Amino acid sequence: AITVDPKASGAKIDDTMYGVFFEDINRAADGGLYSELVQNRSFEYSTDDNRSYTPLTSWATSGTAKAVNDDGRLNARNRTYLSLDGGSSVTNSGYNTGISVEEGKVYNFSVWARAEQASALTVTLADSEGALAGARRVTARGGWTKYTAKFTATRTSANGRLTVAAEGPVALDMISLLPRDTYKGHGLRKDLAQKIAALDPSFVRFPGGCLVNTGSMEGYDEASGWQRKRSYQWKDTIGPVEQRATNANFWGYNQSYGLGYYEYFQFSEDIGAMPLPVVPALVTGCGQNKATDDDALLKRHIQDTLDLIEFANGPVTSEWGKKRAQMGHPKPFHLTHLGVGNEENLPNEFFARFKQFRAAIEAKYPDITVISNSGPDDTGSTFDTAWKLNREANVDMVDEHYYNSPQWFLQNNDRYDSYDRNGPKVFLGEYASQGNAFKNALSEAAFMTGLERNADIVKLASYAPLLANEDYVQWRPDMIWFNNHASWNSANYEVQKLFMRNVGDRVVPSTATGTPSLNGPISGAVGLSTWATSAAYDDVSVTGADGATLLSDDFSGDASKWTHTGGGSWSIQDGQYVQTDAAAENTMVSAGDPAWHDYDLHVKATKKSGK
Ligand code: AHR
Repeated sequence: AITVDPKASGAKIDDTMYGVFFEDINRAADGGLYSELVQNRSFEYSTDDNRSYTPLTSWATSGTAKAVNDDGRLNARNRTYLSLDGGSSVTNSGYNTGISVEEGKVYNFSVWARAEQASALTVTLADSEGALAGARRVTARGGWTKYTAKFTATRTSANGRLTVAAEGPVALDMISLLPRDTYKGHGLRKDLAQKIAALDPSFVRFPGGCLVNTGSMEGYDEASGWQRKRSYQWKDTIGPVEQRATNANFWGYNQSYGLGYYEYFQFSEDIGAMPLPVVPALVTGCGQNKATDDDALLKRHIQDTLDLIEFANGPVTSEWGKKRAQMGHPKPFHLTHLGVGNEENLPNEFFARFKQFRAAIEAKYPDITVISNSGPDDTGSTFDTAWKLNREANVDMVDEHYYNSPQWFLQNNDRYDSYDRNGPKVFLGEYASQGNAFKNALSEAAFMTGLERNADIVKLASYAPLLANEDYVQWRPDMIWFNNHASWNSANYEVQKLFMRNVGDRVVPSTATGTPSLNGPISGAVGLSTWATSAAYDDVSVTGADGATLLSDDFSGDASKWTHTGGGSWSIQDGQYVQTDAAAENTMVSAGDPAWHDYDLHVKATKKSGK
């Protein structure tokens, strides 16, 4: 039974309560929201990004065509280019199934070229059935110059290929094909951007997640082109795209940074949402757990963060405000909140650095809310220590993350009822029940009523992750799914939309009796995730809340009852369940159980070291 007291007044709910969290995971940016159709347009793919990559990944060559990295390069941040002899050609296969075009739509082609003697380039767009548009010709001559052409698709296809054939010797770089029709003309794929906009989110947290604070904190080395698998450093991602040095993505592929900080700010503005960037705090998380002790480097990152605020909000006369204006946005982007760090596993080391970021930001920009975090999940000593430090440091807001079973979400509706009203506010920056089924969405909706009841302390909340390309899934569940030519919403999306589009002003207190429960078949992922590129498990068991064992294995026998998603190959070796390649950096092992249960799943596994 539910009892409502219409006369009583509960917590005030801020308009900013619900937003989205965007991370380039599951090819959410390159091959997703960023509308570039050519994969590896700058020939910068490297084994640093993925063991299987070469500078010619996704390119087929005919005649004499080779990737070259020498002094003849386009610029210091775009090192490798393509050298074609006369009569040779290259063909790009796009992402996944190919280049997707729609009949009647216009596509903008561009290429940077250098040719000592004039060389005509013939550019064609075709699939296995033939041409998808009339061929185009441009003539390259002299030093590096950008050439452009337009295609109008005569047929719809999801399997297109783009070919550039040279009549004479020529050097090429940044071979690009972008649809003319993008969201508000700002370069983002329209159907995906529209789906995000339709949620009416109040904020966009970006650019990640683990993407932000993993890898090297060093900058890009222009002299050597040394990549170092850099953490996400915003200055790498602005300015002309051909000058943005690409980088390894924590999720196992290359990120072009075509969708960079300017585009994130622009997209937030386009959908009427508050931008909420997260910067690395010189401590890595997500299994890497390393604190950088270089004081000069720390100071540089702190200065970069101050510069970021100036880039977003500063006048056009300021150094970084001027760069924003040069990119096309003289007006400020109205940055008010900023996250420092993500899922920090080393709370003491993190806080030593966080406090220095915060002091510098508050000294120059006292109106900015600096957000801290509570570690990788909501359990264990890291969480307790982080919260203690957050309270002691009088932090404004703490970013919490958790991924749990639907039953957990039902049972923890009261989670924030007991949070200290005098302590930091909460930003629930990532959460999801483990699945895209209706029961998952329902349990999230129930949990969100608990967030609203505690809206005096829970100030911001975003489901995660937001996007997944069905041909490149590393993490599930996800809110919006897509392939090269279509996209669709999950049940979880509909719940988010319902809450985001109907944010109340104030909670009307109510009480309910009865025990929440979700009866349904347990299936799908049960949550063994591996951060390492290669892993092995032993003694895995899945038990219910009542202790009943659903599945257990010391892997002395049958591998067939274990399935997994997310790619990668697994096999049983010497009594261990072993990932035998590093294709997938995050794999969920699942134990499909056809029976109906009312269990809170507990998964136990021993991760073997040295693998
Ligand atoms: O949302 C996917 C990942 O989950 C994020 O990158 C990370 O912050 C969390 O562990």
